[in-house]
Amino acid sequence: MSPQAQPLTVAVVGATGVVGRTMIQILSERSFPVGELRLLASGRSAGKTVSAGGQTLTVGEAVSEAFEGVDIALFSAGTDVSRQLAPEAAKRGATVIDNSNAWRMEPSVPLIVSQVNPEDGEWHEGIVANPNCSTMQLVPVLMALRDKVGLERVVVDTYQSVSGTGAEALAELESQVRAHVAGEPKTAGVYPHPIAFNVIPEIDIFLDNGYSREEWKIVTESRKILHLPDLRVSCTAVRVPVFVSHSEAVHVETGKPISPEEARVAFAAVPGVVVMDDPENHAYPIATQAAGRDEIFVGRVRTDPSVERGLAFWVVSDNLRKGAATNAVEIAEVLLERGWVAARSRRGGAAA
Ligand SMILES: NC(=O)c1ccc[n+]([C@@H]2O[C@H](COP(=O)([O-])OP(=O)(O)OC[C@H]3O[C@@H](n4cnc5c(N)ncnc54)[C@H](OP(=O)(O)O)[C@@H]3O)[C@@H](O)[C@H]2O)c1
Repeated sequence: MSPQAQPLTVAVVGATGVVGRTMIQILSERSFPVGELRLLASGRSAGKTVSAGGQTLTVGEAVSEAFEGVDIALFSAGTDVSRQLAPEAAKRGATVIDNSNAWRMEPSVPLIVSQVNPEDGEWHEGIVANPNCSTMQLVPVLMALRDKVGLERVVVDTYQSVSGTGAEALAELESQVRAHVAGEPKTAGVYPHPIAFNVIPEIDIFLDNGYSREEWKIVTESRKILHLPDLRVSCTAVRVPVFVSHSEAVHVETGKPISPEEARVAFAAVPGVVVMDDPENHAYPIATQAAGRDEIFVGRVRTDPSVERGLAFWVVSDNLRKGAATNAVEIAEVLLERGWVAARSRRGGAAA
C-alpha cells in the first residue's frame, strides 16, 4: 500500500471465527493502513482478547453502534448477521465487505474477485460482496479462457475442505479421526454424516431444482462476476475430509479451440494464478501444499475429447485465504487505491 495512505478505522465482524482470524492476520501481513482495528463478534465473545499485530485487543459485541466512525467493515459472521448489521454499518458511513451469502446476488451490490472485476467497486453504495470460496478460485481461471477464446459451458465438481464450514467443523473432523483411531464410534454433529474417511455430496441446503445451494452459488456468482449472464454452468459440490483448501475438477467448452499449452500460458498470465503441471513428476496442485498460500494453483490441463473445443483442468486454493480473507482485504486495497472507500453517492456520484 502507498505509505501516504491515511490510516483507516477497520472493523472485523466475526473476529473470533476462522475467517475473521485469517482476516486479522492478512491485514497485518499486507500492511493495510489500519489506524484502529475494532474486533467484533457475538455477545458470547464480548470481553475476550485476541492478539493482532503484536497487540492484545478486546472483542466487542457486534451491535449497530459499534460501527460509528468505522471506514471499512469486514464481515464474516454468517448471513443473518450480515443481513441485519451490514445496512446499519453502511448507514453510519462504513463500507462493508461482506463474506456471507446475504448480498451477493443483489443487483445493487458489486460482487468482486480482485483480479477479475475490480472496476465494479466504483458503483458500490456501502456494501461490496465477497464471493463464495469455491467461486473465488474458479473465476480468475475462467476469465483467462473468456478473454482468449470465449466460454460456452462450464462443468465443475468441487472437493471442499471442512474449514469452509468454520471452527466447529474443523474440531469435528479432528475428533472423528481420533475416535476412529481409538476404535470408538464417530459422532456427526455439524454434517449429516461423519466426515472423517468419507465424501459427502451435500453442502448447504437442497433447492427445488435438485442442486444444493452451494452448487447454485457457483452457477450464479460466476455469471455475475464474469459479466456472462447466460454462461451455461453445472456443478456438484462435495465435502471431503481435508482441513484446508478446496480442489475443483473443471471441464470447459470454449468458443474457439485452445490447446493445453496455450491455456497454460493464458492461466499463468492472470495475477495470483500459478500453473503447476508436470504430472510425470507428480507435480500438480494439492490441498496441503496450497494451504497457507494466497495463490490459485492450476494443473492437469488437458484436452477434453468428449466435446468439441473441450478443456479439462484441476484448480486448488486455500479457502480461508484467497477464498475468503485475502480477497476481502484485496477488495479493500482496490477501494483505497482508487478513492472508492466511501459509497458512490457519498463521493458525490450518482447512486447505482
Ligand atoms: N470458512 C470459509 O472458507 C468461508 C469462505 C467464504 C465465506 N465464509 C463465510 O464467512 C462466515 C464465517 O465463517 P467462519 O468459517 O469464520 O465461521 P466460524 O469459524 O464458525 O465463525 C463464526 C464467527 O461469527 C461470529 N458470530 C456468530 N453469531 C454471531 C452474532 N449473532 N453476532 C456477531 N457475530 C456472530 C462468531 O462469534 P462467536 O465466536 O462470538 O460465536 C465467530 O466470530 C460465514 O458467513 C461463511 O459462510 C466462510
